[in-house]
Amino acid sequence: MGTVVILKLQEGSGTLTERLYLTLKEWILHEAEPGARLPSIRALAAENNLSRTTVEAAYSQLYAEGYIESRPRSGYFVAEDLLAVDRKPDEEPRAEKQNSIGMESVRYDFYPARLSPEIFPVKTWRRLSVRALQEDLDFGAYPDGKGEAGFREQIASYLNRIRGTRCRADQIVVCSGFIDAMGLAAELMQARKRPFAIEWPGYRLAERVMGEHGYRTLHLPVDPQGIDPERLEATEVGSLYLTPSHQYPTGVTLPVARRQALLEWARRQESWIVEDDYDSELNYTHRPIPAMQGLEGGERVLYLGTFSKSLSPAIRVAYLVLPEPLMERYRRSSHAHFARVSLPVQRTLELFMAEGHWERHLRRVRTLNRRRHDRMLAALKRELGDRIEIVTQGGGLAILVRSTDGCDLKRLREEAVKRGIRLYLASDFYGEEWEALRMGFGGLSEEAIDEGVAETAALWRALSMTHDR
Ligand SMILES: Cc1ncc(COP(=O)(O)O)c(C=O)c1O
Repeated sequence: MGTVVILKLQEGSGTLTERLYLTLKEWILHEAEPGARLPSIRALAAENNLSRTTVEAAYSQLYAEGYIESRPRSGYFVAEDLLAVDRKPDEEPRAEKQNSIGMESVRYDFYPARLSPEIFPVKTWRRLSVRALQEDLDFGAYPDGKGEAGFREQIASYLNRIRGTRCRADQIVVCSGFIDAMGLAAELMQARKRPFAIEWPGYRLAERVMGEHGYRTLHLPVDPQGIDPERLEATEVGSLYLTPSHQYPTGVTLPVARRQALLEWARRQESWIVEDDYDSELNYTHRPIPAMQGLEGGERVLYLGTFSKSLSPAIRVAYLVLPEPLMERYRRSSHAHFARVSLPVQRTLELFMAEGHWERHLRRVRTLNRRRHDRMLAALKRELGDRIEIVTQGGGLAILVRSTDGCDLKRLREEAVKRGIRLYLASDFYGEEWEALRMGFGGLSEEAIDEGVAETAALWRALSMTHDR
């Protein structure tokens, strides 16, 4: 491929990103020279009338699967060794070829945000879904834009009892996942004239959503106690995104003194704080820290929660607790018109909570994940010992480790994928400046954790040896 390339995208029903990914993959498998340079993201996007996000996503996928390599400051190149394997037997059936590196051949997938499929309480869900349908659901009417009143009551009661918030059901808007909730927050805060601040390293998606809604971003460095409120003093920041209970990705907990200082700052500056409490239910070492929203001065906080980490990311249910002035804005806006989650899903989840299944489920999930977490921690320590520093542990669905023996983690990932092991790096999500391996344990059995970590560690040691020489 030269520097200017006009592509004929594969036909099909997938998204543009998927079609672009397939087109490039075909080219790599059948035409490209090993080591050939790919056009820059900007050039490919401009020449083909695609957005840079689309091209970036397709490149990221190809990169994650080992089809292409990234060289610092030079760009992307077709992987050298992959083609030697994949091109030679041209007559080989296509499916076989893809198997050598494709999804089907993945034996251990350490994806950091995966839940075990068996965690989902299918039988109970089925029973309650049928019951919800048998009730007097009005399929002829548009449901309440904020979400069903009974469901919001359940959420408010749970949050106030377990998460230490202070909220009423009529402050809650049921949303379809994080992007929906964060986008709604961005629209309601109306603080575009002042910068939006985010912990750094932090959740890049939050920054992207805010950018898409016209906000400029300021990064606030995370120290061993989270962000330092004093850093905000000299700024004009009008909105701040935080993960105070379990910082994403470093895992640190923001101490109460800093929480209070931030609330005081927000009150003085009339700024808004978005508190993302995404996975505080999954805490394996101590009781979850009560939410900032419930502290004195919590009136400037928009609290965001999700069912994705403990129940299922597939049902797409999250919620936003709004301070009263923003609730007023919401009521007057177009956002108030249509429900964001379908009625049967809301009613089923409401029954699930009302009948005590949710809290029982949480206890079960915590026990199961704690076992996997402990197994992962033990395996990493046993197999990699002082070659690693454990950066984040004790919660969530992944343990983050940094290399202390100089192992090149990008190279490790490239080599691992050829052996059916999928690894994930912090830089995929938080920018190049903060690198770590994110070892997800949620989707793997305890045996698979042991085996997968042992194989990864063997590769790690081999790569570090070549590096030492
Ligand atoms: C920091 C953070 N917040 C929120 C979410 C929840 O996203 P959603 O509710 O869209 O599944 C995630 C999911 O990975 C996350 O990492």
